[in-house]
Amino acid sequence: KKEIKNICCIGAGYVGGPTMAVIALKNPHIKVNIVDINEQRIQDWNDTDLDKLPIYEPGLSEVVEHTRGRNLFFSTDVEQGIRDADMIFISVNTPTKTYGKGKGQAADLKYIELCARQIASIAQRDKIVVEKSTLPVRTAEALSDILSNSESGFNFEILSNPEFLAEGTAIDDLLSPDRVLIGGDNTESGQIAKDTLSSIYEAWVPKERVLQTNVWSSELSKLTANAFLAQRISSINAMSALCEKTEADVDEIARAIGMDSRIGPKFLKSSVGFGGSCFQKDVLNLVYIAKSYGLDEVAEYWDQVIKLNDYQKRRFADRIIKESYNTVSGKKIAFFGWAFKKDTNDTRESAAIYVADHLLDEDAEIVIYDPKVTEERVYADLEYLNNHSSEYIRSRVKIVNNPFNAVGDAHAIAVLTEWDEFKDYNWEKIYSKVLKPANIFDGRNILDKQELNTLGFNVYNIGK
Ligand code: NAI
Repeated sequence: KKEIKNICCIGAGYVGGPTMAVIALKNPHIKVNIVDINEQRIQDWNDTDLDKLPIYEPGLSEVVEHTRGRNLFFSTDVEQGIRDADMIFISVNTPTKTYGKGKGQAADLKYIELCARQIASIAQRDKIVVEKSTLPVRTAEALSDILSNSESGFNFEILSNPEFLAEGTAIDDLLSPDRVLIGGDNTESGQIAKDTLSSIYEAWVPKERVLQTNVWSSELSKLTANAFLAQRISSINAMSALCEKTEADVDEIARAIGMDSRIGPKFLKSSVGFGGSCFQKDVLNLVYIAKSYGLDEVAEYWDQVIKLNDYQKRRFADRIIKESYNTVSGKKIAFFGWAFKKDTNDTRESAAIYVADHLLDEDAEIVIYDPKVTEERVYADLEYLNNHSSEYIRSRVKIVNNPFNAVGDAHAIAVLTEWDEFKDYNWEKIYSKVLKPANIFDGRNILDKQELNTLGFNVYNIGK
């Protein structure tokens, strides 16, 4: 094992920030520098007001408070970070390509490549380079090519260490992970690198949960895990459509099948569709990889997971329209929630964006309340789709900072995110403010339908 005194993480995002904060917390003898080219983000990470951290995660601010300035540092000086480090984590974004070959499917690796080139040109000694970002299988080969051709003559050992945390529970997931996966070469130096990284995690993770594999298995495991998780959601959502036709109840079905130990109870919650920055991107990436190896049947199989998810979002919007006497033109629809799930301010690929976009096609007015998402974020999400002009979006969509301000004269309320607070609202008061018939579309099946029915609401659920 090598002794690690200094770690640099490139990318201060949803993964880099929390992951490194926990590594720093549990390894007080290691100095951890998180670097990012986004100045605003670094400034926010360094804000003395912990409410201003760029990422909201339960428990995160406490960990940052404890470690920041002690052995955790945030900076825009990428070069210095690389120079000082014994081990470098690459945790930059890997979005779906929006141009050229593989557009709409392949992962865009330009940020990763930039990092590799920068490391190659700056390093002044041997380094262990860790892929933390989710990457297509065999990316380590490209990294290795770039680094070994750097003329520096230094040895760069490349490891794959995909992150399995879920947003909203990132800190808990990091503190007690189901497993930590470390892939690397089976050479002697590869083994030393794997053991070195393992020992950092073993500061708090039980040894038997730190798994070592070859580098390709590790890279592909992350895509596989996300594909399986997304597939479970699409599978239960497919059944939800059938339930709505047959008077079966999707939550009852989930409970019944979840008690089968071969199936298990988790990830069987039917909803308006999955969102988040990862599932869609990673499944599409898997589809692209399979296709590029000529495995069309494999590609098609996984592509259905995405198609079903698109169908689910569309179905939800269509139902709102249908139950509004087939038109939402000029009607106010109140959205509860915009984040892709509860307990995060992340909105990437949130189902709410697509539902809103579809309603905007039908000329609806949308008033949104989300406890953690900012107005500018919502507008940016809708504008990014490039479907409607910025002027049109800003004339039709309003963001309010209080749920009661969203519902006045609303023709319908749509629940898009499962924030706990929605369950505890004074729904009687809300009833008095909305137009009648009072329709609620519960895209997360979290509200008490019976109680709401008693108050006079019509409640439309997913899969019931
Ligand atoms: P993010 O977009 O929140 O953060 C990435 C950061 O990298 C940004 O702040 C960006 O400015 C920075 N960056 C990009 N290029 C850079 C460069 N050349 N030098 C310095 N900084 C640079 O992305 P997020 O969500 O943290 O994801 C990162 C990776 O982790 C992705 O590959 C993602 O698939 C993976 N992942 C994400 C999970 C999640 O829940 N968000 C969970 C597990 C994996």
